[in-house]
Amino acid sequence: MTKTTTRRTIDTARGAIAWLEAGAGWPLVLLHAFPLTAEMWRPQLDRVPDDWRFIAPELSSAVPASGARSIDDYARDVGALIDALQIDIAVVGGLSMGGYITFALFRQSPALFSGMILADTRPQADSPQARDARAGMRAVLARDGVSAIADQMIPRLLSGRVGQEQPDVVRHVRAMIESSAPRAVDAALEAMMTRPDSTADLARVSCATLVMVGQEDAVTPVSEADAMHRAIERSVLVTLPEAGHLSNLERPEAFSRALVDFLAAHW
Ligand code: MLT
Repeated sequence: MTKTTTRRTIDTARGAIAWLEAGAGWPLVLLHAFPLTAEMWRPQLDRVPDDWRFIAPELSSAVPASGARSIDDYARDVGALIDALQIDIAVVGGLSMGGYITFALFRQSPALFSGMILADTRPQADSPQARDARAGMRAVLARDGVSAIADQMIPRLLSGRVGQEQPDVVRHVRAMIESSAPRAVDAALEAMMTRPDSTADLARVSCATLVMVGQEDAVTPVSEADAMHRAIERSVLVTLPEAGHLSNLERPEAFSRALVDFLAAHW
């Protein structure tokens, strides 16, 4: 049965922050990808298991009108939301950019983590070429707006077959991108292109960790997920067949099953 998801906002030490929430019980915090919104977690929120409370922060909601952003800023926002919700310990994770923020939050508050989810992400910083590409994307954004970012990103985010087999997923992804404020998209690009390398942190992750990846992920491929799995002692690796980078949207049932099985095995 589909569970009810609610959108809420709370005043935190870093301003008002919005989030989506479903279920009640042990907290699991899910951080969304770029250039999407918390809505991307809707399939998992709909399937929240009994005794769990899924929380999906809206990462753009705390971006100030003027502000430059770092990945650490996003992690501080998430930490402020978790504090405001009076949560001391949680399973925390994210997909792609959500994973980059998870690493930053782990550096800031390692004791918060009872478990970690790393989906379609990587620990490395951007290469010089990737930074150049992001600078180019910021110029496109300034000139042509968020629809042009959707045009560039959708073929990277979704595997080739989705356009034919799941046009509703393509529409959903485009709608999320086009609902984003240009300044929030620009802030996320700046944060990603200046993020530090998190590779050395992997050996310090001692909590149970689920590493997931779409078998056809072209942005953060299976080889990256496998390397993270080998570096994190208590991790399991789940590869999702017939899924690209946004594996939770392309294969929502398989993604949720792997997530729920992981939670059931450890808590
Ligand atoms: C994402 O899905 O969050 C982005 O594609 C990540 C990135 O561009 O590095």
